[in-house]
Amino acid sequence: MNVVKLVRGDIAENTELPWPIFDANDYMLYKAGHIFDSADEVEKIIQRGVYRERTLEDENFLETDQEHFSDSFNRFRSPFSLVNDFASRLGHILSQIEDGNQVGRERILKLAEDIIWLCEHDMDAALAIIHLPSNHKRYSIYHPVHIAMLSSLLAIRMNINGENRLSMIAASLTANIGMRNFQEVLQRQCIPITEKQRKRIQNHPLKSARLLRKIGILDEVWLKVVEQHHEQSNGKGYPNGLSGSEILLESSIVSIADVYSAMMSKRADRKAINVQDALREFFTEKGGAYSETLSLTLIKELGIYPPGTFVRLANDDIGIVVKRLIGRSNNPIVKSVQNAEGEKYTASPVRDTGFKKYQIMESIFYQLPEDYNLGIIWGYSKK
Ligand SMILES: [Fe+2]
Repeated sequence: MNVVKLVRGDIAENTELPWPIFDANDYMLYKAGHIFDSADEVEKIIQRGVYRERTLEDENFLETDQEHFSDSFNRFRSPFSLVNDFASRLGHILSQIEDGNQVGRERILKLAEDIIWLCEHDMDAALAIIHLPSNHKRYSIYHPVHIAMLSSLLAIRMNINGENRLSMIAASLTANIGMRNFQEVLQRQCIPITEKQRKRIQNHPLKSARLLRKIGILDEVWLKVVEQHHEQSNGKGYPNGLSGSEILLESSIVSIADVYSAMMSKRADRKAINVQDALREFFTEKGGAYSETLSLTLIKELGIYPPGTFVRLANDDIGIVVKRLIGRSNNPIVKSVQNAEGEKYTASPVRDTGFKKYQIMESIFYQLPEDYNLGIIWGYSKK
């Protein structure tokens, strides 16, 4: 059997096992869904040496790691495939930083540059990546890439340029390194977080900054953004309860990008939140957490139907939003994927939702087949 050895953080107490686990002789020890009652029990299992079956996703990652782990990337590839490279590179670099390897600094900066380039080149595709359902992706490496992409968009609108923008994006990629594996556990956890877990969460910004200082990162903006990425304008954030102008604008940008991207991801205890509800939340419960300018910028940039979301049109087509248009945030360009009879289009027709017959009637949840090539819809490949 082709297997992957489990390490601390892969499994946790009070959380359903996502896959069956085996001993070194391929003997199944626990079925998927089993719940360990205590951290001690989990520790014993890890120390004993346990394995899970390698999945298709692992295979893709191996392939990506071997083929593309370099500091250069092919800018002609589809953003939907580049994002897998970015996540894979980030996974490697974060491990290097955790091991105290100083090469991590340069590599994060190069990755930040590449992500900024992609966002400047095709922000609609970058936004689609954030909004498309990603059921099987590794949250701890895809989520920071999504935060970096959304932070890039907001940085452009808030006139943060040059070195500061680069430092901010580097920070967004490394802000959660202090709780990397723990994030995966939280993502799968169905019960409310415990007091011990809450403390660990509240401590992670400072722990992340410590890990970065250890490898010689002295960049003040980078470190401050990492330390402040959960602070809130109203003083209700952590770890230091800072407020107003005590918080860097760059930190608030990463913070709002983090919260919004997390809302777009499903967790074990809830589905992804739809865009309209998420944006409404920024005006209500989360209203005091960010400056009004920043919340309004986010809402203005995304519109009600951002790229990557699915909609039902007046002609009963189901389509995916592909392009925002200036001054027409409620009437974006859509490509239809399914007709009124439920048949899939082979070539996705373009629908201008400014026309009455293609007007957007509602947002919907829709799942494209796993092997669907989004590069075709965005015009990066023909088949
Ligand atoms: Fe965080």
